[in-house]
Amino acid sequence: MSAKTRVLITGGSRGVGRATALRLAREGAAVALLARSRDDLNATARAVTEAGGTAITVVANIGDAAAVRSAVDAAIDALGGLDGLILNAGIGVHGPVETYPLEDWQESIATMLTGPFLVTQAALPALKAAGEARIVAIGSGAAYAGYANLSSYCAAKWGLRGFLLALGEEVKADGIRCCYLSPGSILTDFGGRTVAEKRGQPGKAFLQPDDVADAIAYLLAQPAHVWTQEMNLWPV
Ligand SMILES: NC(=O)c1ccc[n+]([C@@H]2O[C@H](COP(=O)([O-])OP(=O)(O)OC[C@H]3O[C@@H](n4cnc5c(N)ncnc54)[C@H](OP(=O)(O)O)[C@@H]3O)[C@@H](O)[C@H]2O)c1
Repeated sequence: MSAKTRVLITGGSRGVGRATALRLAREGAAVALLARSRDDLNATARAVTEAGGTAITVVANIGDAAAVRSAVDAAIDALGGLDGLILNAGIGVHGPVETYPLEDWQESIATMLTGPFLVTQAALPALKAAGEARIVAIGSGAAYAGYANLSSYCAAKWGLRGFLLALGEEVKADGIRCCYLSPGSILTDFGGRTVAEKRGQPGKAFLQPDDVADAIAYLLAQPAHVWTQEMNLWPV
């Protein structure tokens, strides 16, 4: 994709989404950042602007169909189209199945499975109009295994993987290449564990958010005749 790439990043305010916004903006992309916290979005948009890039923000809960529709429409209007979509927003709520609250289950599925469907549905006309576009969904090792006390996370990420692989077949003729990118553990405040707590774990390796951002930038830059369907990124 060219330096004029226009990219919508869900969960673009913190962690991997923030690192990706800064990375893509350095390459000349204009980014639209979607999340719930306006303050976090504004802080990241400021950082992008200070680095010489262009960022716009849209506030929405990704599980809210009406809010997503108007946020994605506003992002496409502001960017003047869309060449890339990064489905990155996520949460990690631990707990055993036996006592897991239904609302936590529903929030996990809404954030990491229904939300990506809603954003994709709203973005597809613009991505198709671009003639050549990329969708990258941030998965997890939890889409290839079962982790105790993370059943809702595993279910959502396995589901997201199925959704992305099916979508990839559906839109390949429209010039859209879909990739399910699964990172191992990343040094972000995520899933109830802070960066400081993660750093304190002896013998455990982590990715930096920038490592994932670099992989996303690589996927967006691939030529149209190359389709990376899945990518696993592991810290060692
Ligand atoms: N951290 C890890 O170890 C790890 C490992 C493998 C995969 N991943 C995946 O990587 C992705 C990014 O994780 P991260 O570590 O960067 O997490 P993070 O720092 O907690 O960032 C999560 C982002 O998602 C947004 N978000 C959460 N719920 C949302 C909702 N309902 N609607 C809209 N936005 C929402 C958050 O903003 P608001 O809260 O303001 O909405 C924030 O911008 C996730 O999909 C995660 O599953 C993470």
